[in-house]
Amino acid sequence: MPASLSAALLDRAAASIPGGVNTCRRRSEPRLCFRRGRGAYLEDLDGRRYIDYHAAYGAVFLGHSHPVVTERVAAAIADTVLFGVGVTEAEVRLAEKIVEHVPSIEQVVVCNSGSEATYHAIRLARGVTGREKIIKFQGCYNGFHDYVLRNVLSPAALVGERDPQSKGMLDAAIDATLVCRFNDLEDVRATLAQHAGEVAAVILEPVAHNAPGLLPVDGFLEGLRAACDEHGSVLIFDEVITGFRHGLGGYQEIAGVRPDLTTLGKAFANGFPLAAVGGRRELMERYTTNPDGDVHYGGTYNGNAAAVEAGLATIELLEDGAVHEHVFRLGARMRAGLEAIGRRAGVPVTVGGFGSLFVLCFMEGPLVSYDDVLRNDTDLFVRYRRELVRRGIFEMPESLGRSHIGAAHTDDDIDRSLVVAEDSLSAALDARAVGRPS
Ligand SMILES: Cc1ncc(COP(=O)(O)O)c(C=O)c1O
Repeated sequence: MPASLSAALLDRAAASIPGGVNTCRRRSEPRLCFRRGRGAYLEDLDGRRYIDYHAAYGAVFLGHSHPVVTERVAAAIADTVLFGVGVTEAEVRLAEKIVEHVPSIEQVVVCNSGSEATYHAIRLARGVTGREKIIKFQGCYNGFHDYVLRNVLSPAALVGERDPQSKGMLDAAIDATLVCRFNDLEDVRATLAQHAGEVAAVILEPVAHNAPGLLPVDGFLEGLRAACDEHGSVLIFDEVITGFRHGLGGYQEIAGVRPDLTTLGKAFANGFPLAAVGGRRELMERYTTNPDGDVHYGGTYNGNAAAVEAGLATIELLEDGAVHEHVFRLGARMRAGLEAIGRRAGVPVTVGGFGSLFVLCFMEGPLVSYDDVLRNDTDLFVRYRRELVRRGIFEMPESLGRSHIGAAHTDDDIDRSLVVAEDSLSAALDARAVGRPS
């Protein structure tokens, strides 16, 4: 007999879905499936409620099933789902909004996932420069395709080495992707010099939230801008997490640095599948959506009405700035509260993140490079997360996963979560002291 309805559904699923889930990072321990999400709360199949900070890996920003977003989507799809010809007025309004808000974007095209967006951005960079190599950063995740799926959360032994994350990747694609250290401008400059005239693009998360929680040090993004200009490489900010979540202008507006291309996804349609590539007109016009273009751009579902309307509704709900003010304030409160809990427990903690994002790492600071991340006490991290889940706080029970605050969280949610966090840490430490498995 499975221990819970979640476990029973996962067991049933495993007969027809490999491993029982539709994307590799949805398996959790404890095993969980949810039947309802409302605002900041989730309810599992057994009726237990959780304050949710997982937010579907950050895709949900306004709260689960936000009524304005879902009603707008329902109204839009009554007449319009997908026509596959021309453009809808809603698609144009969405593009105009993105151009209005994101400083470096003069033109934009939409697609359905962050991985599609980074794939299209890199291909465009290769197309316009006629070069093959790209630079990514250790610890950054930029999507599932062969161009970028290497050196993400690498173990210490593979930092600085070839670390593809999957079988079946093309050797040529893996080797065309050079890996530099985040926040190490000298490493980037040296790599560009060593491969002079060969690097099409430098792609990065401007805040390395997948690393997790590494903020760019002063001058890093500006230095990348200058180095790309010097070497004729396209600078791509992968703002799939940071765009819209940190502000309607993305992190580029906060940093005051303009990339050539930007990828957007996740938070900007509050859980609906919408992503985008935007940038300088001169580059964007090379896509074959333009009759004179020579870089292929396609996708059957691009611009479907559900995603576009969800994106428009989400952007409009963010435009007065109140949500960002709210989540930045709660994020600061959460990070400070977690630091204090670590101090009281007498264990080294460092809280990474920015704005609405936080991650409690069990290590001495600083948290500046991926080498720092390797000091995290993985065993304690996972034990702590599992204790949180048992007590009704849903942060993904996996090592180094970031957590997300959204518009629906309240001060009271944060305060209650901090009480549970303290209790969970103490339970995790006690269990470890007596050698109990997590
Ligand atoms: C920074 C970043 N870029 C790209 C992606 C890929 O997005 P998707 O999972 O929608 O393909 C992710 C997903 O986590 C991401 O965090």
